[in-house]
Amino acid sequence: MICKRLQFLAVLAILSVPAFSQAPLPPQPRTPPLLLGAAWYPEQWPESRWDADLSLMEAAHIHFVRVGEFAWSTLEPSEGNYQLDWLEHAIRLAEKHHIAVVLGTPSAAPPAWLTTKYPETLRTLPDGRKDQHGNRQQFDWSDPKYRELARIIATKMAERFGHDPNVIGWQIDNEYANQSYGEADRIRFQDWLKAKYKTLDNLNARWTTAYWSETYQDWRQIPIEETYGNPGLLLNWKQFVSDEWRSYQKNQLDVIRAHAEPRQRITTNMMGWFDAYDHYTVSQDLDFTSWDDYVGSGHLDPVRNGATHDLTRGFLRKNFWVMETQPGMVNWSADNNMLDKGEVRAMAWNAIGHGSEAVEYWQWRSDLNGQEEYHGTLLGADGTPVPVYYEAQQVGADFDKAGPVLAGTTVDSQVAILQDYSSRWAVNWQRHNKAFDPIDSLLSYYRPLHRMAGSIDIVADTAPLSRYKLVVAPALNLLTPDAVKNLEAYVRGGGHLVLGQRSGMKDEDNGLNPQRQPGPLVDLLGARVEQFYALEKTVPVSGDWGAGENAIWAEQLGSLKPDVQVLMRYGKSNGWLDGQPAAVTRKVGQGTITYIGMELSSETAAQAAKWMLQQAGIAETMPGLPEGVDLAVRTGEGKRVLILTNYAAEPRTITLPKPMENVLEGGTVQSVTLPQYGVAVLK
Ligand code: GLA
Ligand code: GLA
Repeated sequence: MICKRLQFLAVLAILSVPAFSQAPLPPQPRTPPLLLGAAWYPEQWPESRWDADLSLMEAAHIHFVRVGEFAWSTLEPSEGNYQLDWLEHAIRLAEKHHIAVVLGTPSAAPPAWLTTKYPETLRTLPDGRKDQHGNRQQFDWSDPKYRELARIIATKMAERFGHDPNVIGWQIDNEYANQSYGEADRIRFQDWLKAKYKTLDNLNARWTTAYWSETYQDWRQIPIEETYGNPGLLLNWKQFVSDEWRSYQKNQLDVIRAHAEPRQRITTNMMGWFDAYDHYTVSQDLDFTSWDDYVGSGHLDPVRNGATHDLTRGFLRKNFWVMETQPGMVNWSADNNMLDKGEVRAMAWNAIGHGSEAVEYWQWRSDLNGQEEYHGTLLGADGTPVPVYYEAQQVGADFDKAGPVLAGTTVDSQVAILQDYSSRWAVNWQRHNKAFDPIDSLLSYYRPLHRMAGSIDIVADTAPLSRYKLVVAPALNLLTPDAVKNLEAYVRGGGHLVLGQRSGMKDEDNGLNPQRQPGPLVDLLGARVEQFYALEKTVPVSGDWGAGENAIWAEQLGSLKPDVQVLMRYGKSNGWLDGQPAAVTRKVGQGTITYIGMELSSETAAQAAKWMLQQAGIAETMPGLPEGVDLAVRTGEGKRVLILTNYAAEPRTITLPKPMENVLEGGTVQSVTLPQYGVAVLK
């Protein structure tokens, strides 16, 4: 593989010698299309050990290491004393083993000298106490001094390694998570509000601060509220936090870009559905997105996990990386069980199936001390492989085999599910029924649709939609004017839009719309939500999608226009809902708009999904897929690759629509039989 790669590069080098004075070819990647990686912490080990580590990595087909993201105290042991030679040695030695490097900037772990000398850089906790040295992420993300120091160390690294042939990318910081609640943070928030609302009269009106005498006469009166407070205030704090993370990141990103070659792509590692900030805001400056995929307790749910990959792919609407994943187990969950034998490999293919280009194990070897002694690794504290090492090695071998087949492919969906942070926050602040979880609501659509359609995009409500035949918006609670325009244009352009429960209730300030749900879309729908109900008991539903039970939440719909078609109705329950519409649809030109006020339960979900796909003219990818088998599809450059994984305890036989090349096993097959956790890649 490596040799082939070098030959390929040599050919490119010859081709790129300009015969005429043409622009040079864009820089070519030094790495194969599918990457296996490990988080490696050479700063914890004597240099004499590194070669043994890298040899074991090479034997496991590991193509890259991520290095440096917590190494500030080694990179700068005292202020201004930069020690980067060790990192250079590690990069050179990795290169000898054909292992590329992703450099992490170390700002998630400020050294003790820094917080001692500049205590203002420590974050303030919600109760007003200062954080302290001893863990990580104790910094204040909006503090100018902290940003200055983080920028300097990032600059030093970028100056030194920005042209390093063996450095392929950068990870800024690590898992942004903690904001700060100090006085200086509050003043920055108030200034941010002033820039946004311009006048206090405007802010007071849009937040309805006459309520409970919340009226502000001075910007400095505005507090920070995070859980219970004026909904406008809550939303703006989150948006401020998001903007601050973006500028925190840009502070380092700009200096790396200034010194690094563009082929060194920049990312940060995010955390799936984590919602402390708006990921669309923070992603927009990155070259690609990545996330840390951990199961924690229990076992992989390929659908939920697949949706999380799709979410991450949707931040920039292109392929992404799994920057960390568990080599079998973690240490931070309540029950840190090991994944079953074979499950780690299935999990790696779950990522690739949903558009990942890389899977990196956290971490390579157990630290001898430190907070994570029990975490899963590929090597034990003794420096020799633990059993799961060999499974990672198989993943590496798989990637080398399937890489050329999957090169240039991505996930190209006909169906989009919309996801919006403001809507999730808004629902979570006022769930009204504690069991209503916006992510579960999204997944109730995702599960049946993904199974039938083979792939789904999860994107923002302002993303371009015309390429989708079907767009589903579960719990799109808050609609900005831009989102409304986007959705209207989509339907009027012939698209098929489905709105789920709680959609269109709020405006851009998290206030109630002056219309009933779905607010500004009521006219287009020709119907509205008469009343919502948090349910104490299940309610029967029946109609075009069969019969089932509706739990947690129900919306009583009412038609305003004669051409609205009722698809489902509630049965006898609390009196209010009895016989009332639960789902309605309306044709708009070539398009349709549908509102579903009921829950998609296990009985109705598949029928509802079938209806949605038929309506939109989408054929099922593999009808009759056996239960327990997960399907993913990647396409591109005239290629169509299916990835099938069996999560059922028993073997499953899948009949293919036509004879296909069995990429991992070889040969052409018309059907495959997979044991539990068995994977087939088919072209
Ligand atoms: C109390 C308060 C009211 C209102 C209601 C809501 O009774 O006095 O202002 O908050 O609760 O149930
Ligand atoms: C996160 C962090 C890593 C490590 C792992 C353990 O993903 O980024 O540094 O702590 O969790 O699961």
